[in-house]
Amino acid sequence: MINSNNVKKIVYGGDYNPEQWSEDIWEEDMRLFALAGIDIVTLNVFSWAELQTDEVTYQFEKLDKIMDLVRKHGLKVCLATSTGAHPAWMAKKYPDILRTEFNGMKRKFGGRHNSCPNSPTYQKYSVALAKELALRYKGYDNIVAWHISNEFGGECFCENCEKAFRVWLKQKYKTIKEVNRVWNTSFWGHTFYDWDEIVLPNLLSENFAYERTMFQGISLDYRRFNSDSMLACYLAEYEVIKAITPDIPITTNLMGFYKPLDYKKWAKYMDFVSWDNYPSNSDSISKIALNHDLIRGLKGGMPFVLMEQTPSVTNWQAYNALKRPGVMRLWSYQAAAHGADAIMFFQMRRSIGACEKYHGAVIDHVGHEHTRVFREVTALGEELKQLGDKTLGAVSDAKTAILFDWDNWWALEYSAGPSCELKYQDEILNYYSALHEQNIPVDIIGSDDELSKYKIVIAPLLYMTKGNYDEKIREFVNQGGSFLTTFFSGIVDEHDLVITGGYPGKLRDILGIWVEENDALPNGEENSFIMKGKQYPAKLLCDIMHLEGAKTISSYENDFYGNTPCITKNTFGKGTAYYVGTRSSREFYRDFLKEICEEKEVLPVLNTPSDVEAVRRIKGDKSFVFVLNHTSEEKIIIAENNCKELLSGTVYDKGNKICLKAKDVLILESTLVI
Ligand code: GLA
Ligand code: ZN
Repeated sequence: MINSNNVKKIVYGGDYNPEQWSEDIWEEDMRLFALAGIDIVTLNVFSWAELQTDEVTYQFEKLDKIMDLVRKHGLKVCLATSTGAHPAWMAKKYPDILRTEFNGMKRKFGGRHNSCPNSPTYQKYSVALAKELALRYKGYDNIVAWHISNEFGGECFCENCEKAFRVWLKQKYKTIKEVNRVWNTSFWGHTFYDWDEIVLPNLLSENFAYERTMFQGISLDYRRFNSDSMLACYLAEYEVIKAITPDIPITTNLMGFYKPLDYKKWAKYMDFVSWDNYPSNSDSISKIALNHDLIRGLKGGMPFVLMEQTPSVTNWQAYNALKRPGVMRLWSYQAAAHGADAIMFFQMRRSIGACEKYHGAVIDHVGHEHTRVFREVTALGEELKQLGDKTLGAVSDAKTAILFDWDNWWALEYSAGPSCELKYQDEILNYYSALHEQNIPVDIIGSDDELSKYKIVIAPLLYMTKGNYDEKIREFVNQGGSFLTTFFSGIVDEHDLVITGGYPGKLRDILGIWVEENDALPNGEENSFIMKGKQYPAKLLCDIMHLEGAKTISSYENDFYGNTPCITKNTFGKGTAYYVGTRSSREFYRDFLKEICEEKEVLPVLNTPSDVEAVRRIKGDKSFVFVLNHTSEEKIIIAENNCKELLSGTVYDKGNKICLKAKDVLILESTLVI
């Protein structure tokens, strides 16, 4: 982790691009960084063109100067490899490095994140550059992390990728017969006789409007292949750097719920995970929290690095609203609450040209420290120094987990039918928000993660049951766990082939139901059900089911399936399995999950007014409860233990009233009673 290297506080800094400025500005930057309490800079993110002018000529003099300067000023470095955008000369000379789009259009030089992952040119020169950098800077003991490339992403549909796809398939399936089986190619006469008949699924082949595809199996494997191809590029750089600087941790910056890359698989090869938090104007507090929890879950709950956030404003939204006073601080602590041990910005100084010139920065175009943003950054810098290493390494103690799986995401949304509105993330967010709004801690887990440490596991829209995943659930419930899944679950295997014999396939015995049909309701149409005297809507999809051991919690009220089960509960072994056969309202999710949590004695971290978030991290016998007032009003909470508020030093006794100003934060430290 970035913090193991003599770092005794939450490191604080961000992306710094001195190569865009003259040297007299660099000196001024050093002064301003010291003022703001900045102690880390991410360097060299997009400098490939500066560093390498032809196949064999590297020029590191400028970077040397920058590295020496920041070291002299006591700054730590997160050193990037610059391979997120290739040089123009390389694109001209080796066009194989250019990507081909979904529509088959070969790109010219331009943009960034623009290299084909299967280009021999990219593979050769990206690794060579990473090696040169590692050799040159291995003696700098202020490098606390390597940052490979930048926000890996996108897709490529070029001929090199097509060839590599066939190799990938051969390794995975061995025979063309097996490929035909798993893709069900007897449909529409797609039988392949030879590997080189297989083409990439894009606009020229299997397209069924971008998000859908005629052949889910092919497209699903392409997604896996594309994610693996980029991971291979990351890994090639990782290995060459690791061999030279084995003690420096390596990462790359992720992007939360980023669909094209299976981050759960990537995280296995990252020494720590880091991500860039750029909520859009419409994102709820819960959605931001969910992204943090997703990232924390990628590496089994290990603290992560907030690699980028804007200190004030983004440039890429339609309407780029300013972060209101206090919000940068509040969201920084929100990241820390959910597991961040470093808080970093994009960017330290605002560029003067190209598309990010209006993106916020610690140092604005005016160039001095007398700005609102700089003052807020400085105040937080001061506070983080005071806080020290208190919360570093602390972890979540959630007893509730939500499963999120990339294969499931891809497969579900590639399928045509039953409803175009079936979106995996929406359903995850519905369940997550209900828990989060009640301050119930949640871990976001993947299908490889252990279930036994949880009391409640929720797997919304578990459309795909891969391999023996059903066994894992069976064991969890058998041992006393509460499991909940929803409509349109258990439908297919890992190849997106339907599991015949009745939905929800392999989950049928655990849930004690048979789902016969799925009724998709057009937008605006609703059914309903009543639970404990309250009526709730049934929307999007209504599963029509039969009981096979489960009990009905509630039934649909209307239509030809009125009076048939909508929500069920099955006792299985020592545990319980719930099935929610439809989408409902926020109120339903809150009420229903509250009841399940109470039943399992899963308690909120703290009782707070709405939009006051409470999140806990645990370290040794200490508990740190972060209380975040997302509202614009003063709020009162009651101390539930004797505790010390770390940002002010105030000590509270159990039962004391604590006042939180608008957008304010508390970190309540207390000793755990074990
Ligand atoms: C991403 C990139 C940065 C910058 C920011 C702007 O996170 O990594 O280089 O473009 O977005 O928001
Ligand atoms: Zn390609």
